[in-house]
Amino acid sequence: MSKVKLSDGTSIPIEMHRVSTIHPIRLIPPAARVAALDYAGNCSYNLRSEDVFIDMLTDSGFNAMSDAQAGAFHLADHAYAGGEGYYRMADTVQRMLNKRFFLPVHQGRACEHMLARAFVRQGGVVPTNFHFGTFRTQTGFMGGTVAEMLADKGRVTTGSDPFKGDFDMERLRAFFDSTPRENIPFLRIEAGTNLIGGQPISMDNIQEVSALCRERGVRVVLDMSLVMDNLHFIKARDPKRADMSIADITREMADAADIVYFSGRKLGFARGGGICTNDEADFKLIRGFVSCYEGFPTFGGMSSAELEVMRVGIEETMDENVVSQGPDFIAFMTDEFIRHGVPVVTPAGGLGCHIDANRFCSHLAPEDFRGASLAAAIYIVSGARGMERGASSEQPAPIGIESVAPMELVRLAVPRRVYTLSHIMYVIDRVVWLYEHRELIGGLRWEDESVERHSFIDYLRPTSDWRERLAEVFAASGLE
Ligand code: F0G
Repeated sequence: MSKVKLSDGTSIPIEMHRVSTIHPIRLIPPAARVAALDYAGNCSYNLRSEDVFIDMLTDSGFNAMSDAQAGAFHLADHAYAGGEGYYRMADTVQRMLNKRFFLPVHQGRACEHMLARAFVRQGGVVPTNFHFGTFRTQTGFMGGTVAEMLADKGRVTTGSDPFKGDFDMERLRAFFDSTPRENIPFLRIEAGTNLIGGQPISMDNIQEVSALCRERGVRVVLDMSLVMDNLHFIKARDPKRADMSIADITREMADAADIVYFSGRKLGFARGGGICTNDEADFKLIRGFVSCYEGFPTFGGMSSAELEVMRVGIEETMDENVVSQGPDFIAFMTDEFIRHGVPVVTPAGGLGCHIDANRFCSHLAPEDFRGASLAAAIYIVSGARGMERGASSEQPAPIGIESVAPMELVRLAVPRRVYTLSHIMYVIDRVVWLYEHRELIGGLRWEDESVERHSFIDYLRPTSDWRERLAEVFAASGLE
């Protein structure tokens, strides 16, 4: 139970934990937020965290630890090689994901790096439901490309399909028919498809894709970074799996893949990552790269203490109250925004509530970076930082050239166990205020148009004094 019904019949998400360690936060005045944006080049990533009131940039590694995790932190065996924590983690991986071999790495993108090094060659093409930025970049570094196979239902911000992260099977079959087998290093499935609004993929689709790959002799790689939300959605939206436990759904999903990797910043509430497989030859191949680029393969660039924390975090993920907390808060935000007419991605997905900046800022031109502008405006009126998911964080997207970003979103992430419902309600209120004053939002431009690779870090300048004006109108309205 992570929702309760109030006596007036409404339902609210409720935290199934209490708090014992706290971190003070502060809200600086609107004018100081404009100055903070100057320092940050108007990019929410570049803000100093002490200038942020509610940090909804990401849930990555920004999770509260449970008491069990805090305790496990001190179990760490800091041995350079063969630490006990590695074996404890490998046992957990065997039990939860049914994979015999485990390699820790320092975070999710390091998994992508290792897989690209191990398998991608010049001219290689990796089919996937949808790309993730770092994955596409690292595949590109090795001379490969990514081919997106997302079903059309996932390419729009509206709709009510429960599984918008599904592959288009026809497109995938056509891809296999037209691409030489030796040019396909592996197929990548992303659970909880990040860049289209944290939309889940269905188990049926995963199994269909996996069966087709096995028929064609193509390795299946599953990115489980965002699996927590996806597990929740399968249980809640797939009638065939409504009675299954989270652990059984997890195992069923992992069984469809030859290699599973994940960001432990997301799955595991820690700061690390991991690659898991039953294929000994693949394990040994990848291990060689881990040893060279990450660290000795029994710690792989992670601190031994974080390895213990990640293990306990993954075990906690099997608890329905833990997996549902994020999606329930996100659904609450999404419903409230819909009630007030604020354009959001529907149905509510995982990771965060995703605002459709194209519709929110339809008065701006696409080259105004609607997503980045909206993220800056939200910070001015709330002190909350979201993340632009659109043209300015995809690369390269020079002005005048159509962006590779199919959507312009601002994600208000809900890091699990970190914020309470009053924080969420405050952010909703300020975004609704902003929507009612949206004509005050102006555009942004690259500070330096010659920079080719942005990798989330942009420096943008405003096209006018709209930020100062927005801060003035907001302050004059009597809000703080
Ligand atoms: N795969 C997916 C689906 C992700 O969402 C991320 C990170 C990674 C891989 C890379 O993991 O950050 O540990 O290196 N997503 C973060 C986010 C950045 O907030 O969207 P990492």
